[in-house]
Amino acid sequence: MTDNHAQKLTEFCNSSQKKAVLYDHAKNGPLFLLAGAGSGKTFVLTTRIVYLILNGISPSSLVALTFTEAAAKEMSERAINKLNDFGYSSPLQPRASTFHSLSLNIITTEVTGKANWERLGFTQKPSVISEEQKVKFIQDISKRLTLNQSFQELTEWMDSPFYTARKSGEVQQNQDTDSFSNHSGIKKAAQTMYRDYLLEHNLLTFGDMVYLATTLLQEYSDVRNYYQNKFQYLLVDEYQDTSPDQLTLIKLLSAPQNNLFLVGDDDQAIYGFRGADSQCIEKLFKEFPGISVIKMELNYRSTASVLNYANTIFRNKPKELQKRLLPGKISDNNLFTKNLPVITRIHPTSLAEGIWIAEEIRRLMSEELLNWSDFTILYRLNRQAAYYRNLIKGQCGDEAAKEVGYQTIHSSKGLQYPVVFLVGLETGTFPHKHMGKELTQEKYEEEKRLFYVGVTRAENLLYISACRSRMVRGKMRKQKASPFILKAGSFFTRVKNQVLTGLVP
Ligand SMILES: Nc1ncnc2c1ncn2[C@@H]1O[C@H](COP(=O)(O)OP(=O)(O)OP(=O)(O)O)[C@@H](O)[C@H]1O
Ligand SMILES: [Mg+2]
Repeated sequence: MTDNHAQKLTEFCNSSQKKAVLYDHAKNGPLFLLAGAGSGKTFVLTTRIVYLILNGISPSSLVALTFTEAAAKEMSERAINKLNDFGYSSPLQPRASTFHSLSLNIITTEVTGKANWERLGFTQKPSVISEEQKVKFIQDISKRLTLNQSFQELTEWMDSPFYTARKSGEVQQNQDTDSFSNHSGIKKAAQTMYRDYLLEHNLLTFGDMVYLATTLLQEYSDVRNYYQNKFQYLLVDEYQDTSPDQLTLIKLLSAPQNNLFLVGDDDQAIYGFRGADSQCIEKLFKEFPGISVIKMELNYRSTASVLNYANTIFRNKPKELQKRLLPGKISDNNLFTKNLPVITRIHPTSLAEGIWIAEEIRRLMSEELLNWSDFTILYRLNRQAAYYRNLIKGQCGDEAAKEVGYQTIHSSKGLQYPVVFLVGLETGTFPHKHMGKELTQEKYEEEKRLFYVGVTRAENLLYISACRSRMVRGKMRKQKASPFILKAGSFFTRVKNQVLTGLVP
């Protein structure tokens, strides 16, 4: 790669970003890029892929891991486009994947003349069990063993049967064998039957995929050598949501060279409920004691008003752990340059909230010449989707209902939208309290990080709203505003009619 190329590739990067893109693993070891939302972590990671390839690294010898299929697709496309700008025209193109798709790929590959799945006890190349097959199995076993557990609980039992077997094997060694008559005995029997069923039908579960891949790498040195040779560079986005299994996979694949490039933001760890490890960043420093850290503070996504609001969310954290987001974006977008305050509103009813959203969308479309697709509604729970979609349909018609974006905050991770309505900020919903479960401090903190993720998706304008009463299953129910809206809002001026307006310094 010529110096000219390196310069062109990093021409839009700030100095920290440039340092990361051009980082030398051979000299400095693994790298962790730790920075807040919108600071260009994914942008740097993508640019880094291009840098490596322009330096002669084959796309097939690097692995870029990200969180969802959609994010993987976007990352691959961006890298490919950038490579085209540099006249790169090999048929070998970089492809980002998820931890799960990489694991499935490892499980279904042959190494040194033997199929990896056979090493795991499958007789044919396994595929992922379908939802229907799983439901049917659970119903059958529930009948056969006359189980009285709820369907929900049985589903949890069946999440990762192979991993569970190993874990309980470890616990079991010093204990008496469970009898079928007690709870854990029944659970174990059901899980054993599930494993037999999966093996017999050459099926596996989503929950076991990463575990099975790490098992292969741990137990078979030929498999391990093969992948450690094949993958010379490992890059991981959204590291903060990594599970212990995934960290094991990272370790196994990056050894012995440890050409490891991780990016993440501890303030955006939102998958604790799905097994992500809140300690994964601390563990990183233990596993790779010499790891370099680069931080970035400039945000290239949002207006100063949105960033000021976001910066209040973690103001109770110790100063040295706080990461401030500073406005770094230069844009001639009309709405962006107005730097409008964050608009926070508590409505008397959910209908009033709906009418307000529709009115604001219409007003901005005419005053700012925006399109329906410039607006995205973000909510805490999947089940809120239909409500808001119907609401927009009722207020604005079919076309609007189709084009306005609707996302749970979880699925908006890593993405950005011109105008965001962050809705339903009511206790019980957000922070979400599961039926019959306690909202622990730990869960509360995770919900708060989720709130931060939602806030930092907005590029040009952010609305945040709650209702004092809401229709739930045909009944009007009294609601309380979420502490998130009240606490973040208390830093802002309170204007008449419960309109809270962000102060722009
Ligand atoms: N140096 C830069 N100059 C101009 N734009 C930039 C720069 N760096 C990043 N961007 C842009 O800023 C936006 C946010 O970047 P990106 O999505 O990579 O941030 P992120 O840190 O990954 O955010 P998140 O934490 O939400 O995943 C993108 O539109 C990106 O293209
Ligand atoms: Mg990102």
